Amino acid sequence: MPEYKKIVLELDRNITSEEISIINEINKHFIKNNIYLEYDENKIIANLRILDLEKFKNKINELTDKYHLSHQNPFINLLQKIEDIGSYGIKSGKRLYVDYDKERKVKNRKQKIEDRGKYFYARDNNFLKINNEFPLEFTNKVVCADSEEFLKKLPDNCVDLIFTSPPYNFGLEYEKYKDGTQWEAYFDKLFRIFKECIRVLKYGGRIVVNIQPLYSDYIPIHHIISNFFMENKMIWKGEILWDKHNYNAKYTAWGSWKSPSNPYLKYTWEFLEVFSKGDLKHEGDIKKADITPDEFKKWVYAKWDIAPERNMKEFQHPAMFPEELAKRVIKLFSFENDVVLDPFNGVGTTTKVAKELNRRYLGVDISEEYTKKAKDRLKEVAQQKTLKII
Ligand SMILES: C[S@@+](CC[C@H](N)C(=O)[O-])C[C@H]1O[C@@H](n2cnc3c(N)ncnc32)[C@H](O)[C@@H]1O
Repeated sequence: MPEYKKIVLELDRNITSEEISIINEINKHFIKNNIYLEYDENKIIANLRILDLEKFKNKINELTDKYHLSHQNPFINLLQKIEDIGSYGIKSGKRLYVDYDKERKVKNRKQKIEDRGKYFYARDNNFLKINNEFPLEFTNKVVCADSEEFLKKLPDNCVDLIFTSPPYNFGLEYEKYKDGTQWEAYFDKLFRIFKECIRVLKYGGRIVVNIQPLYSDYIPIHHIISNFFMENKMIWKGEILWDKHNYNAKYTAWGSWKSPSNPYLKYTWEFLEVFSKGDLKHEGDIKKADITPDEFKKWVYAKWDIAPERNMKEFQHPAMFPEELAKRVIKLFSFENDVVLDPFNGVGTTTKVAKELNRRYLGVDISEEYTKKAKDRLKEVAQQKTLKII
């Protein structure tokens, strides 16, 4: 007898004859070796090995129409339960629920993880597990301030997601901030702000930092920043490679032309380093998840092909990221109504997209001019939203 994963759905009443007919039809339609259903007086049991979830959903919909099941349709709950449990993989579009170890190169993987532990560097953290409400006075605001000072006004554990891109210290022409100082001073300041970011993040909250190394000076800023977060007990959740495909990027030198003595490596991408505080799981109401199945499938592959922001001249800001980048981060890592913070908000790409996606937000930037532009962008979103309602 092959091994199945069992999902049991308990009903608060007896199963009906229509429901039994549906179960029989499903069993006729699908191969028993992949999935079959059983029932008891007040239970439906799904036995799963391999499942084409879309096909299964369509069949359920077809049969519930045929047998006129409307309210108290237990198959909807069964579907939800199946969707909630993790399949361990997908093969030819079908979800796999068993034979986990047979497919793996590393046998007894779960046992090995238990023995040596996950994210050892973050284990002995002192993060409080109790989260706090985000203060109303700072909700849906963009402010002009130094984040190091301003973030001190927020309580611990009150922000769901931080998405930000700090200055890279390349020597860009910002309106107020002087970019291109000594590296020690740059990292000291940045880390004082990131310490505040960690403090205000909720337990289970995430910080996503968009960063580009300074290749020409051999400074791996993304590694130095990642190291800082791990030293501060944050869990490295992953890394997204944002490929801008800007092949005509400024530096066209090859180093030592056609010689291994010192070739330059070239890059068309930046990084997004993702960290979680305390727990990889972020609590939230599943009804407030607005990412579509197609978006989810596409975006969990951590190489995103997105063109760089084209309107930097219009905004007179030298280092904006595109709205599409913010949209993906916000939808993938937060629920609607979550609080999104950007402590280097620039002309407010994060706060604009957060508002469009019905998140609460706070943006902080040291430049008055940029903050004004960020506010203007929010007004535009408000107008568009009103137009939609009309
Ligand atoms: C890379 S830009 C962010 C751009 C932003 N993602 C956008 O799309 O508009 C970094 C920003 O950090 C701001 N900044 C620098 N130091 C700061 C500080 N101590 N507190 C707040 N903002 C700061 C700069 O004014 C600049 O706008």
